[in-house]
Amino acid sequence: MAKKKKSKKKSILITAITIGVLIVVWLVTPGDAAFKQVNTWQRMTSPGALSAAHASLENNCAACHTPVTGAEAANCIACHANDKSLLQNQATSFHANVGSCKECHLEHQGRDQRTLEMDHVALAELGLRQLKSNDPDSESERVRQSFAVLMKHMPDAALPHSRVVREELLLNCTTCHETEDPHVGYFGDNCATCHATNRWNIPEYIHPPAASLDCVQCHKAPPSHYMPMFMSMCAKMLGKSPKSVSQCYVCHMITGWNDMKGAAWHKKSMSHIPSR
Ligand code: HEC
Ligand code: HEC
Ligand code: HEC
Ligand code: HEC
Ligand code: HEC
Ligand code: HEC
Ligand code: HEC
Repeated sequence: MAKKKKSKKKSILITAITIGVLIVVWLVTPGDAAFKQVNTWQRMTSPGALSAAHASLENNCAACHTPVTGAEAANCIACHANDKSLLQNQATSFHANVGSCKECHLEHQGRDQRTLEMDHVALAELGLRQLKSNDPDSESERVRQSFAVLMKHMPDAALPHSRVVREELLLNCTTCHETEDPHVGYFGDNCATCHATNRWNIPEYIHPPAASLDCVQCHKAPPSHYMPMFMSMCAKMLGKSPKSVSQCYVCHMITGWNDMKGAAWHKKSMSHIPSR
């Protein structure tokens, strides 16, 4: 015990000496010494190099940092408010009112780090934070509270699968991913019932066999299939005569929609028919 106390005393002493030395050095060096310049100071306290996109701000900490409060969204927005492609793209239009940036765009990770990772949990948490209100009777605060209770008490068994976490279930996937839905709405809005948020493919999924006759259970034909002449034309060209559009399996393989039964030629020749 005594030994420990002693070494603590010693380290305090060392710190005191170091600081003392720094003060002395500061006093005896000329005013224009490199380390007394604002820029050098800034670099000394920076936790790491900025990303390549922001390299030009390496000497302009105040572009992003506000004293005391740190890196602030308002500073980011000052430069990025007019990014049209970001705001017009369905998946990224949430940028218009997300209100915070550093959850997904880390900085100081080095020049070669592109900090563009999507973090769905962070997004859900930001959403919850935006609902927060000082008025306990307000609608948004009540919604937030009920979500909080749900998050806390939802048992693991209630999660649709182990690749999602509770917070992600608060998100409405289609507001951002509707245009990417290959199931054309057939499987509903709640993509997280089956999907994780880091990749669409589901490794354990095995497609029903080609001999299945239930294609319509999971697939919807594109509008092209209901155009006049489609069935009769295809029947003639493919040499198949399905009773109705719903018999997808008569014309299609399961390997790819372009892969028609006994008609490799189709790939080019039919592509003019508008589909979705
Ligand atoms: C392009 C914007 C940007 C610039 C320019 C920038 N930073 Fe940062 N900095 C950030 C972000 C974002 C964070 C992460 C904040 C967090 O994780 O809470 C951060 C974090 C930090 C932190 C960690 C403490 C904290 O506030 O979380 C320090 C220290 C820091 N920056 C110093 C600097 C210094 C010194 C400079 C100038 C040399 C600088 N930064 C320039 C964006 C920037
Ligand atoms: C002084 C203006 C300015 C400020 C402040 C600023 N940026 Fe940038 N940012 C830029 C410029 C310029 C680019 C490069 C644009 C390009 O290449 O099209 C960029 C690029 C980016 C990119 C794309 C990165 C990449 O690798 O392509 C992201 C994300 C980004 N900024 C987020 C932020 C965030 C978050 C903050 C606040 C912490 C911030 N910016 C602050 C000017 C700024
Ligand atoms: C929940 C995560 C998240 C938050 C919070 C977030 N972003 Fe983004 N941002 C992304 C993702 C993901 C992309 C890349 C989208 C893509 O792949 O097209 C992106 C892209 C960008 C880009 C375009 C980068 C490029 O491709 O040139 C800019 C600029 C940007 N964000 C700025 C901001 C600013 C400013 C804020 C804060 C107001 C912010 N972001 C908050 C996730 C986020
Ligand atoms: C507010 C918008 C938003 C919501 C809501 C949202 N996402 Fe995303 N998601 C994004 C953005 C932005 C990306 C980055 C890639 C991109 O630009 O599509 C992304 C990426 C993904 C990816 C990876 C895509 C790939 O090819 O790498 C999957 C999978 C995904 N989201 C699933 C979901 C699911 C499931 C939900 C619902 C629980 C959901 N997302 C809710 C915006 C959102
Ligand atoms: C009932 C379960 C279920 C639901 C709900 C569901 N999907 Fe899927 N989705 C699947 C399966 C199964 C696959 C095939 C996965 C594979 O082959 O790895 C798939 C594949 C995908 C693919 C990849 C397609 C490809 O060929 O690469 C995307 C993108 C996708 N789904 C988006 C969505 C979106 C967006 C939603 C919500 C609007 C959604 N899914 C809802 C089951 C579902
Ligand atoms: C139990 C649901 C289910 C049934 C039944 C089903 N499929 Fe699928 N199928 C899927 C899912 C999920 C995907 C992956 C998502 C997507 O690409 O639409 C898929 C993908 C496909 C693809 C795209 C493959 C690719 O990678 O481009 C084709 C073609 C296909 N199915 C044909 C068929 C045919 C033909 C039948 C009937 C013999 C059939 N499916 C029956 C669920 C089903
Ligand atoms: C009479 C034969 C026939 C039947 C039956 C049929 N298709 Fe097709 N399908 C075609 C032909 C020919 C094409 C290529 C023309 C096109 O792209 O519309 C095609 C294309 C497609 C495409 C690709 C469209 C694109 O945008 O790439 C999908 C998806 C598709 N069919 C789904 C289905 C589904 C689901 C069914 C059953 C509900 C079905 N088809 C029934 C002949 C058929």
